[in-house]
Amino acid sequence: MEDSIDVILQDPCTVLPPPKHHPVVTACTGALLTGVYGLWSLFVLPGFRKIPWRLKVPYVPSSKDQTLNIMKLLKGRTGRLADLGSGDGRLVFAASAAGFQCTGFEINSILLTYARTKAHWTGLPSNQANFVNKDFWKTDLSSYNNVTAFLAPGVMEVLGEKLLKELPDDACVIACRFPFPNWPHQASAGSGLDQTWAYDISAVRENLKNASGTVVL
Ligand SMILES: C[S@@+](CC[C@H](N)C(=O)[O-])C[C@H]1O[C@@H](n2cnc3c(N)ncnc32)[C@H](O)[C@@H]1O
Repeated sequence: MEDSIDVILQDPCTVLPPPKHHPVVTACTGALLTGVYGLWSLFVLPGFRKIPWRLKVPYVPSSKDQTLNIMKLLKGRTGRLADLGSGDGRLVFAASAAGFQCTGFEINSILLTYARTKAHWTGLPSNQANFVNKDFWKTDLSSYNNVTAFLAPGVMEVLGEKLLKELPDDACVIACRFPFPNWPHQASAGSGLDQTWAYDISAVRENLKNASGTVVL
């Protein structure tokens, strides 16, 4: 009679035969993993080498809900918009459809080419949707009165310092998924991974000024 699985597991003397792998399955799994790694490095790595480790942000596209939440928070606003790390351009396309003059900053040349090609095919003029191959950390953002950032939690504090130095008083900043630490938000939309926060730069400046003036006894 064959041993049941319970008996096999309880008996320390039982030696299970090694699992058999079909060579074709092994080869296919290897090829699949190599392909996934190749695609990942193709889409995530280009342009990364020049960015310091602590500021590196990988490509993760916004969901539809996240994009809708951003557009809700931008309602009623106009002017120039910078998307910091524009990926495949989805946010720039949504904002330009709402009337903003958008610039997408992107260091990944493959994503940049995709976004530019899409803008070209849809006939979008460059004053409505412009994609530039620039590191936004090294770019002066003072001419933008709207900024969107879907980046990473570890860079939000440094980004906040940069934006506070450069943006005009009437600027609105939208943070996606990861809020700015210590910044009071004006409004928020959505929840969970799709949550977005809107910040009024002059209100943030005022708040931080008051906080630093607080005397602790
Ligand atoms: C999380 S993705 C967001 C993509 C897009 N904004 C979206 O919502 O779908 C962040 C993007 O920022 C780009 N990125 C990271 N650091 C950058 C930098 N210093 N300058 C320009 N782009 C950068 C990455 O290549 C990536 O495409």
